[in-house]
Amino acid sequence: MQRKAIVFGVTGQDGSHLTDLLLSKDYKVVGVARRCSVDTTERIKDRMGCPHFHLVHGDITDVHSVIGILKENEDVDEVYNLAAQSHVGISFKQPGLTWDITGKGCLNILQSIVDLGIQCKFYQASSSEMFGDSYSVDEHGNKYQDENTKFLPQSPYAIAKVAAHYIVRLFREAYGLHASAGILFNHEGERRGENFVTRKITKWIAGYQRWLERFHTSHNDAALAFGDNEVYLRGRLDNDEGFEYPKLRLGNLDACRDWGYAGDYVEAMWAMLQQEYPDDYVICTGKTHSVREFLDYAFGYLGISDWSNLVTIDPEFYRPAEVDYLCGNASKAKNRLGWVPKHGLEELVQTMLEHDLDENLQNIP
Ligand code: NAP
Ligand code: GDD
Repeated sequence: MQRKAIVFGVTGQDGSHLTDLLLSKDYKVVGVARRCSVDTTERIKDRMGCPHFHLVHGDITDVHSVIGILKENEDVDEVYNLAAQSHVGISFKQPGLTWDITGKGCLNILQSIVDLGIQCKFYQASSSEMFGDSYSVDEHGNKYQDENTKFLPQSPYAIAKVAAHYIVRLFREAYGLHASAGILFNHEGERRGENFVTRKITKWIAGYQRWLERFHTSHNDAALAFGDNEVYLRGRLDNDEGFEYPKLRLGNLDACRDWGYAGDYVEAMWAMLQQEYPDDYVICTGKTHSVREFLDYAFGYLGISDWSNLVTIDPEFYRPAEVDYLCGNASKAKNRLGWVPKHGLEELVQTMLEHDLDENLQNIP
């Protein structure tokens, strides 16, 4: 019989990849999207006409809305909660909203499932941000995080995720719910939101390349000059429009992240719900790199080895508290789910850059 899944957060990066995966496995997918004054379905536009995909409006902060969706789909087999205010920096500016969506939203879904007596499996999108400043140390002195590392959250976002994580654990134990949490480390790709650091970098590089091409020049051209905030073409500046390009403005370049490819990570979400028993799993690549190293890879793809005059540090992008080091250990997922990541960082950077360079080409008027 055809299985049915509800995906909260279907318009996001992971929601769109998960929808692709579930449809490829012949599921019927009910995707939940918030009402917005602009169209937010760009990432799932190719799925909109699909007979097995049904988009409904709903908001996880509104328990009536959640109950309505669940009641209409009482035969649902799997519920995935990917909905969140997912930007860590923004969570410092909108902590209340972040709490309502990222923390309490999870409770709204779980309590509704229990109250309605729905027999389904549940997935919660937990996060490596929950570890914050905390890490374990292996026998060689290497720092890592796994399912046994304690949580020391460093942002309103991470605190909301820890609360949701413990709600999942409680509902599993108190009500016998098949509720699992994937503690996912950073995962990126061509569908990543444009204000996360990886995509911000690849989008900027694609824009810069397009600007160089427009003026039939290259990064090594002696005519290029560098101001505090912009790159410009010498001699053509004063009244000519478009002869300067704003530099890439970033915050902390020393933070280290374990970056993987989003398409790989949704396979782990699905695998968790195919297990006989619910559990928590760390999902990551096991390799960590600084933002600075990501810049090396990304600019290196265009043959630019020294990017220092293209990037400017802007305190606006520093956070009141930072997570300095994330590097996961996914041994449990490998042993129990048979899950391993298929893409490394170099491949990830290449995929994102190729996509963004291509998109720029297509947008030439
Ligand atoms: P994302 O691109 O920001 O997507 C978040 C989704 O949640 C969007 O569809 C958004 O809708 C939706 N949403 C926000 N508030 C909502 C509300 N009140 N009601 C219903 N839907 C709402 O995030 P992502 O990268 O796909 O991540 C998916 C989940 O995994 C999130 O929970 C995130 O916190 C978590 N996570 C992500 C990573 C990562 O590296 N990507 C790592 C660990 C955990 P709009 O389109 O309307 O904004
Ligand atoms: N966004 C952003 N923008 N980050 C910057 C910038 C910038 O201009 N400059 C430096 N950074 C640094 C941040 O301070 C952080 O240390 C690192 O780059 C990564 O930032 P993000 O890409 O915003 O991701 P994140 O690690 O904070 O959070 C992402 O991963 C979490 C899992 O660890 C999000 O997807 C979360 O939702 C997710 O839970």
